[in-house]
Amino acid sequence: MTRKTSVLPTPPRTTSAAGAALTRKISMSDLRAARQTGTKMAMLTCYDYTTARLMQQAGVPALLVGDSAANVILGHDTTLPVSLSFMIEITAAVRRGAPLALLIADMPFGSYHGSIDRGVRNVARMVKLSGCDCVKLEAGRGQLRLIRTLADAGVAVMAHLGLRPQSVGLLGGYRAQGRTAAEADTIVQLARKMQKAGAAALLLEAVAADVATAVVAETELPVIGCGAGAACHGSVIVTHDAIGLTDTPPRFAPRLDDLGDPMLHACREYVRRVSNGEYPAAEHAYEMDETERTKFLQHRNAPAQKHV
Ligand code: KIV
Repeated sequence: MTRKTSVLPTPPRTTSAAGAALTRKISMSDLRAARQTGTKMAMLTCYDYTTARLMQQAGVPALLVGDSAANVILGHDTTLPVSLSFMIEITAAVRRGAPLALLIADMPFGSYHGSIDRGVRNVARMVKLSGCDCVKLEAGRGQLRLIRTLADAGVAVMAHLGLRPQSVGLLGGYRAQGRTAAEADTIVQLARKMQKAGAAALLLEAVAADVATAVVAETELPVIGCGAGAACHGSVIVTHDAIGLTDTPPRFAPRLDDLGDPMLHACREYVRRVSNGEYPAAEHAYEMDETERTKFLQHRNAPAQKHV
């Protein structure tokens, strides 16, 4: 069967009207189109099925299952302890909740280090078992060969540059990157190398805005920013930071809502109702069929039969 090809440029397809539910599958070509058309792509972190459903309904085109799950879901101080099997499990749950979203899965610390073979095997596991569209790696020079191998195998890789929380030990803390000329230059050079190695997209976390502007100008890849200024082709944020569920969100996180308060209120209200006997009330109870109930109660009230 021959495929029809058109020589006319296809007009950019919108993901959905802003705020309306997604109506079609969003793919990596939409991320590339964001770069071409100047449409900014919104991305949120997501770690579970229920939230993913809501996000798809709200028209969030791209979801990142970040290893920030280690912090906001599992309560660790760093992202280092989270396992590959946990990341696969929650990414698959997010996929079930948001089948139409562009789904990016973070590869956790240790799962893509040590050898190319091991990295490829673990990425393949993630792709096969979770249904993600793209994997994200915190990328330094040491990951260039792996990215090339994955790109050759047809895997879309998002290279995460700038602040790389998996290297917190080396960095000595979480601080913005690219604030000296030398550091800024290193990030831009690395971004170019990632493109050459075959990365499909870049993510810049906590970098000086001028660095992001230079990366956008000096590469042809779509660039997602996370505290990287306005030049990027889209933005990602840890959802819990933006909706008021964390105590110390980073300076660059927008405050979209304060869901901590209504959650506190609901939990306190539950405790109050249970403690004072208000809940469960009659309307929350299941009833038996009347005949069965009578039989049951007669049994209970009948004197125990003597065994002879
Ligand atoms: O793990 C994560 O959520 C991330 C974002 C902060 C970019 O990598």
